[in-house]
Amino acid sequence: MKRHSKLIVTSAVLATSIIAVILRKRKNPEPLPYEQRFALELPRLLNQSQLNEALSPEPSERILEVGPGTGRYSLPVAEHLDSDGSLHVLDVQQQMLDHTVQRAREQGVDGITATHGNAEQLSYSDDHFDAVYLVSTLGEIPDQEQALKELHRVLRPGGRLVVGESIADPEMVRLGTLRDRCESVGFRFEQRVGRRIGYFARFRKPPR
Ligand SMILES: C[S@@+](CC[C@H](N)C(=O)[O-])C[C@H]1O[C@@H](n2cnc3c(N)ncnc32)[C@H](O)[C@@H]1O
Repeated sequence: MKRHSKLIVTSAVLATSIIAVILRKRKNPEPLPYEQRFALELPRLLNQSQLNEALSPEPSERILEVGPGTGRYSLPVAEHLDSDGSLHVLDVQQQMLDHTVQRAREQGVDGITATHGNAEQLSYSDDHFDAVYLVSTLGEIPDQEQALKELHRVLRPGGRLVVGESIADPEMVRLGTLRDRCESVGFRFEQRVGRRIGYFARFRKPPR
């Protein structure tokens, strides 16, 4: 009986600590430190074929990925592009970019251009990309609305934005919240691939 009570108390303390971490991360979003990159290689709810279905990349497109981390979702997209196409990856952590570029080199994948920067203030010109995507990244950005405004600005009219979010991330952005934020800056929601607990959502910048 005593052991049973101890187990209940330990589980309650653990659950409370996890909830406290989630609430703290949501209040003060910050990039996943490079030192914790092992977390990016664990099995995920969000898989590459779901990203392909939502993004539908054309071989000659110019595509931007914000927050590539260690490049898990970058290499398969870059492999899909031909010599007219290009994948640009942007991250606030130079170490993540170096890791992605090195991984691409080791696997013989070309066509990736890395830029160190912040999604809240992009250095790309207006209407520059055919498509933009982010996976498990939006929730880490302190001013999501500002970042979404920037993504809207750098996408060409008719271009696609794909956002991947999963319940496994403490800063997960739920689909309803994401739709409100994207629609408030001018995107139109088109499709959800996957389940609500782990999804890719596609939005479009309306054509002029
Ligand atoms: C949780 S990791 C996800 C990495 C990768 N997309 C994946 O799913 O494996 C989030 C990435 O977004 C980057 N990031 C966070 N805030 C950012 C910002 N404001 N601008 C650009 N990148 C950011 C982090 O440095 C990190 O590489």
